[in-house]
Amino acid sequence: MIRSRHLFSLLIFGTLAGCTVELPNPPAQRENHWADQGWSNAERQWYHHASQGTNTFGLPYEWFKALEQPELSLSEAGLFSDQNYLSRMGFIPSPVSLDDKAQATQYGYRDNTEYSKSSPYAGKSYNKVGLPVGFAVGDEWLDPASGQRWHLPGTGKNAHSLGLTCAACHTGQLEYGNHRILIDGGQAMISLDKIREALKISLAYTKFLPGRFDRFAKRVLGDADTPQNRSLLKGQFDSFLDAAKEEGDLEAEMVKQGVTEGFTRLDALNRIGNEVFANQMKIKGNMHPIAGPVSFPFIWNAPWFDWVQYNSSIQQPMVRNAGEAMGVKAMVNLSEPQKPIFSSNLPLQTLHEMEILLAGSKHPLEAKQFGGLRSPEWKTLPLPPLNEALVAKGRDLYLGNPDKGQKPLCAGCHLPPINSIEIFDASHWREPGPGFSEKYLALKTVSVKDIGTDCKTAFGMAHRTVDTPDYIHNSGALVPPFTPQQTPEDCPQPLSGATPASGHKITNFGVALGEVVYSTIETWYDVHNKTDAERLVLDSNRPNGIRAVIDGVPAYKARPLNGVWSTPPYLHNGSVPNLYLLLSTQAERDAEASKFYLGSREFDPKYVGFKYRAEGGSHLPGQEPLPNTQGLFLLDTGLPGNRNTGHLFTNDSVAGRIGPKLSDDERFAIIEFLKSL
Ligand code: HEC
Ligand code: HEC
Repeated sequence: MIRSRHLFSLLIFGTLAGCTVELPNPPAQRENHWADQGWSNAERQWYHHASQGTNTFGLPYEWFKALEQPELSLSEAGLFSDQNYLSRMGFIPSPVSLDDKAQATQYGYRDNTEYSKSSPYAGKSYNKVGLPVGFAVGDEWLDPASGQRWHLPGTGKNAHSLGLTCAACHTGQLEYGNHRILIDGGQAMISLDKIREALKISLAYTKFLPGRFDRFAKRVLGDADTPQNRSLLKGQFDSFLDAAKEEGDLEAEMVKQGVTEGFTRLDALNRIGNEVFANQMKIKGNMHPIAGPVSFPFIWNAPWFDWVQYNSSIQQPMVRNAGEAMGVKAMVNLSEPQKPIFSSNLPLQTLHEMEILLAGSKHPLEAKQFGGLRSPEWKTLPLPPLNEALVAKGRDLYLGNPDKGQKPLCAGCHLPPINSIEIFDASHWREPGPGFSEKYLALKTVSVKDIGTDCKTAFGMAHRTVDTPDYIHNSGALVPPFTPQQTPEDCPQPLSGATPASGHKITNFGVALGEVVYSTIETWYDVHNKTDAERLVLDSNRPNGIRAVIDGVPAYKARPLNGVWSTPPYLHNGSVPNLYLLLSTQAERDAEASKFYLGSREFDPKYVGFKYRAEGGSHLPGQEPLPNTQGLFLLDTGLPGNRNTGHLFTNDSVAGRIGPKLSDDERFAIIEFLKSL
């Protein structure tokens, strides 16, 4: 009887879920190297695994460790948490401890004076559980539905939370020759779609495949694996799956209405909005399609930018980091006004420590150099040598050279390089505002219309509205509609929205997000009795500025480009595979890579990008397409959200033209200069 019911469920399930998630082959063995970027080994390992109080996958750590890979087989499959398995989704394997020198070396850690300099983080192991870079085990797990601790039946122990931390999304890897170069603060090659999908199927197989739940229970319960405890665990598991299914269905619907994120990308702002205003506030109508994915940005020097995010929308590091932690499921009470509203489990002190590691402890204007995390240096890595004559030629093009009558092609927007003396010129620094005394790098922004790149991210934030109940204290701003001349074709003005229910208001999403996140932060400060002076330090001496438009319209910011060579693909939505094509005309981009497969980490040092395989494209001279596309993600630049338009160097007067057509010689010179930064 039970057997046939199982079989029946299995059949339904088979048709519902398909068999498995297609993943790229496991990466080949290579020699791992962490680039030298100013952090000691201990600082690096702490940063990779310090918990931000997040519960990203919605299930406890003990369960995650006990799940098997989503393989449709009746025998035992490998563990889901196996680092080699997770590396196929782009996660970077990490050693358990640095004390075992041989193990640490195998994972790319090196022993030299800089790496082993003393730091408060030294002498401890931050990855006892042996998970990849960016996975962090936190405090006790709280059931999202009830807010209660969740005990592991019969063991006398409570479950723990498991979440992603900064390093999951902000650590890069490039494979070249026999080497794998690992880059702190770089662009991650992960696919959160793949891990989400794989977990969903793994959980379902645990329920339906004979024997799989028994093995799961044995791993979770250990010595307490009695029939009674197993049946209690089964009860927890089944009710968890019912709740997860509802959330999963809604999530799938949001992706269906938008575009797939794939390897290297995430629609961070819309996902944070969905988590905060729909899931945590428990207002389903606040869900928004995944429409404007962005490429994980590099984050070295970002603490010194006056505004961050691609659309230059956030000013304060604490709001940026706490908002991000809420987006990857840190728990905040936004739905039960009878309990303390805005109370959270966010570890704000840890978030601040992470920020200090990134920023360095001295102001760059005072030290006359940028401290904290530095960009990786091409010259010190196992990459082909630079051609210095070409670098010099590229410098003239980038910065201009008055002696030769050359105007700058790039520095007018991207500023002089971070390691140049010119960057400390007062004209590049801005005062943040009343009550805040530090100066920050004044980055240039360009309206979406003028830069001509995909509009979905920047317009998405300006157009999105959310419904909030009165107890949320939302000051109630709406972004005024844009004129037809200001509005790109892909981003029409939305139809005017619903009228709010009584006791609710509908406002711009960005402004509401800034206020909700800052109220959560202030509540934490109050609970922890922080003085005004301490608050200013934790806020990194910056006001809570949030903006969806600049001079009345959505815009993107031009960042300093040191280390950008290590962070393909390019533009905010990752729609251009290499630097060469970023310096090209629209026709060239479309001919080479209008649809291309992403997910390989094989680095191409000539055109500067990851190797890819174009569908229907011709590939650049000498470029070898990837041999197969198994498990890779096809980025179709024909779709709104994925457009590869704008930032064009062309002689045609088209939208998004920012400079003249560049010869091959000029492009390779600029690329060589970028490699030297
Ligand atoms: C789940 C992935 C993820 C995690 C975890 C994450 N980030 Fe990010 N981060 C992003 C994405 C995606 C963006 C770009 C969002 C945008 O601009 O629309 C971003 C933007 C940023 C920026 C702005 C960069 C710039 O130049 O505009 C900084 C700085 C940053 N993150 C730091 C951090 C820190 C510090 C942490 C940990 C406390 C963290 N991030 C955790 C994905 C993540
Ligand atoms: C008119 C201002 C402007 C000029 C001139 C300009 N850029 Fe940009 N650049 C931008 C903006 C704005 C962005 C962000 C666009 C986006 O992501 O949608 C950008 C993005 C980039 C990126 C992508 C960064 C990333 O995060 O992927 C690179 C690389 C780049 N520019 C290189 C250059 C080079 C090299 C030159 C000179 C040959 C140059 N730019 C000239 C404004 C400019």
